[in-house]
Amino acid sequence: MITALHERGHRVLVETQAGIGSSITDEEYVEAGATIVACAAEVWNKADLVVKVKEPQPSEYGLFRAGLILFTYLHLAPLPDLTDALVESGVNSVAYETIRETDGSLPLLTPMSEVAGRMAVQVGAQYLERPNGGRGILLGGIPGVAPANVLVIGGGVVGHNAAKIACGLGANVTIIDRNLNRLRELDDIYSNSILTLASNSYTLRESIRISDLVIGAVLIPGASAPKLVRRDMIASMKRGSVVVDVAIDQGGCFETSRATTHTDPIYYVDGVLHYCVSNMPAAVPHTSTFGLTNATIPYLLLLADRGLEAACLNSKALAEGVNTYQGHITYQAVAESQNKLWKAFAAVA
Ligand SMILES: NC(=O)c1ccc[n+]([C@@H]2O[C@H](COP(=O)([O-])OP(=O)(O)OC[C@H]3O[C@@H](n4cnc5c(N)ncnc54)[C@H](O)[C@@H]3O)[C@@H](O)[C@H]2O)c1
Repeated sequence: MITALHERGHRVLVETQAGIGSSITDEEYVEAGATIVACAAEVWNKADLVVKVKEPQPSEYGLFRAGLILFTYLHLAPLPDLTDALVESGVNSVAYETIRETDGSLPLLTPMSEVAGRMAVQVGAQYLERPNGGRGILLGGIPGVAPANVLVIGGGVVGHNAAKIACGLGANVTIIDRNLNRLRELDDIYSNSILTLASNSYTLRESIRISDLVIGAVLIPGASAPKLVRRDMIASMKRGSVVVDVAIDQGGCFETSRATTHTDPIYYVDGVLHYCVSNMPAAVPHTSTFGLTNATIPYLLLLADRGLEAACLNSKALAEGVNTYQGHITYQAVAESQNKLWKAFAAVA
């Protein structure tokens, strides 16, 4: 990212040690063309465009100023204080999560789903090991001993990536989805190496009962995850089985799910180990940083090269990302969730 910006003549300021969590040193940033500055405040004060990963924290609100472009994940709907701070200061904010391409895809959410899907199997395999609290099953089995049964509920980006890794490790994999066309695609991709089932309470109940690892990966865009898996279904699983509810960031799709953290990731219900970490990609920040950057860079270069208004004229997807502009909320769902007024970006710009 730094190299691409530097080569196009932009000056890139990086807070010292900003990349340490992702195993990227200040020296590597300098080599790529960045200038290291002493603190985040200096970046906020000197830059025209601030790029982050997470939404600004309250300690940063005082650094907002009119006309500054902020490009990051914002998830403003449940954050009225941050929304007010952006509007009152006149920051023009572009939220990664609302950039939407014309085919309906959300390109800046996809890499995080890819990470979480692949990680779900890795985590599941680890917790199935006896010393980690599971029933002591090797996902792929060995010659003469059956592999584990892995059930993936929801065959979208997370589910597809989870199935790929579970298949690769030699597990018996089933994917359940309510979208039959999606199941047809998955069937074409995996041929006979996975079982696809239509989503209903019968297939769920029967599949869960015999599964060693269940991965929850459903999404209904704009809504809380449906509680597809009832507690009695969890109770029917073998003791020491594992459930990984990736959909926990939307409330979770198991009745027994509650959000956990990387420092305290698991708990048991009816003898079944639950892993429900709502920001799984944070455990692999090196991979996640590069994955996210690959996806943000085309939009970032447009913003840096042309400025917000011209960039949005060029990219309808980017225009959909504008959440606040010149003192107005410009994203309808954010305004509605906070009972506030909004104006379309095109009407203000
Ligand atoms: N915990 C984390 O760190 C983390 C990271 C990334 C994504 N996520 C979450 O993972 C979830 C899945 O994301 P995604 O990118 O794969 O979404 P996606 O839209 O690509 O896929 C969701 C799938 O769920 C299916 N579905 C919807 N209702 C269903 C039902 N009743 N039964 C079976 N299938 C159903 C859809 O048909 C779709 O195929 C989302 O909630 C997302 O926010 C969590």
